[in-house]
Amino acid sequence: MAKAMKIAIVDDEQDMRQSISQWLALSGFDTETFATAEDALKRIGPDFPGVVVSDVRMPGMDGMAFLKRLMSQDSALPVIIITGHGDVPMAVEAMRVGAFDFLEKPFNPDQMTELAKKATQKRRLALDARALRRDLSGGAQIMDKLIGASPAMERLREDILDLGQADGHVLIDGETGTGKTLAAHALHAVGSRASKPFVLVQCGAHPDEEMGDKLFEGDPDAGVLPLVEQARGGTLCLEDIEALSPAVQARLLTFINDQGAPAETRIVAVSNLQEQGKTSEDALRPDLFYRLAAMRITLPPLRQRGEDILQLFNRFAVQFADEYGCEAPEVGAQEAAQLLQAPWPGNVRQLINVAERAVLQSRRGSGTIASLLMAESETVEPVMTTEGKPLKEYVEAFERMLIDNTMRRHKGSIVAVMDELCLPRRTLNEKMAKYGLQRSDYL
Ligand SMILES: Nc1ncnc2c1ncn2[C@@H]1O[C@H](COP(=O)(O)OP(=O)(O)OP(=O)(O)O)[C@@H](O)[C@H]1O
Ligand SMILES: [Mg+2]
Repeated sequence: MAKAMKIAIVDDEQDMRQSISQWLALSGFDTETFATAEDALKRIGPDFPGVVVSDVRMPGMDGMAFLKRLMSQDSALPVIIITGHGDVPMAVEAMRVGAFDFLEKPFNPDQMTELAKKATQKRRLALDARALRRDLSGGAQIMDKLIGASPAMERLREDILDLGQADGHVLIDGETGTGKTLAAHALHAVGSRASKPFVLVQCGAHPDEEMGDKLFEGDPDAGVLPLVEQARGGTLCLEDIEALSPAVQARLLTFINDQGAPAETRIVAVSNLQEQGKTSEDALRPDLFYRLAAMRITLPPLRQRGEDILQLFNRFAVQFADEYGCEAPEVGAQEAAQLLQAPWPGNVRQLINVAERAVLQSRRGSGTIASLLMAESETVEPVMTTEGKPLKEYVEAFERMLIDNTMRRHKGSIVAVMDELCLPRRTLNEKMAKYGLQRSDYL
């Protein structure tokens, strides 16, 4: 039996709060009474394991102000408001602010019990869902590895969380180095299969016959289970899926069909075809393609998410600087523009590479980011993408980077950063919230 939900009763009239409390206690609730909203606020925090019943007219903080405070700290907290007889505008206002329901005095105690039951049920569901989400985000540190605040990255994180909960097979595609393998790991780690095996197979790593055997036969003499068996109940990640020959594709299709639905073993197919101008649709048997691509994740190329470039660069520069025991280079305006305009054909992998070399360069005290980028592109032309980005995007990416750097240098001292960047606290707070920067990360 789950623990009883609490009911906090707030009323300045002693008779009233005691009779409500007695009645609800008789119905099996765990009640607690408060004479003022101020007292109640000391006990009711964001994850309060229960609901609130409050009078409206009280000396000191009144019921409406109390309700607003409660809603601002936890909008999922059910609050039942007791209004005076005929106080319709007040009741309407309370509902608008987010009250669960209201009761007009004098009320029938059974009505109160009914409402309290509904409210506590709702509360329990909300708290359970919240705990589940926390488990997922806490348990799956891999999601934290996915850096980037661009809308495309936000969507990717949501897709991973959603599809992670589902059972169907998934096709992941995108250019090289965009994070396909990382996304496949994340998909497994956030899902219900996280405690089961994750088996990663490079489909192009072996000649055709051998691949088929490894996947479906194993090596009984050596006691090696087939890969599909090793992945049982978990995730079988097939990288470079279109390297499978038609014969092996046919066996895979049979395996998928034999599994039925929901699939015991989830297949996450990773396709590397995008840069060759082909699609997995051309390279896979259509029936296999449709089975695998029912759910699809396409990783966006880095050049399409300018906001992420400087963030990724900085993050990895700090990481490498740590590793090499030196200071991370600070990126100036011009260098930032160059990073933003580079075409990044190797996407995040290439960017990590450039960040590492930039750190090594700055440790030696020579070289520029421009020269690194120049060396990256084989042509001697200045590095420029053909497609420009809106000015706003450069400005925001740069602003974010400056605040990030300055916070890092001042180890999270807001006052020092306000001072250096000549920003009022409020503006700084707003910008940090906008760019997803958290002070605790710099302390
Ligand atoms: N959003 C991201 N945040 C942080 N690191 C990332 C991100 N995306 C990719 N990476 C890192 O970039 C590198 C390349 O990613 P990954 O290997 O997943 O790419 P891929 O698309 O599978 O590449 P390939 O096509 O070559 O297999 C890895 O080190 C990965 O951890
Ligand atoms: Mg990969």
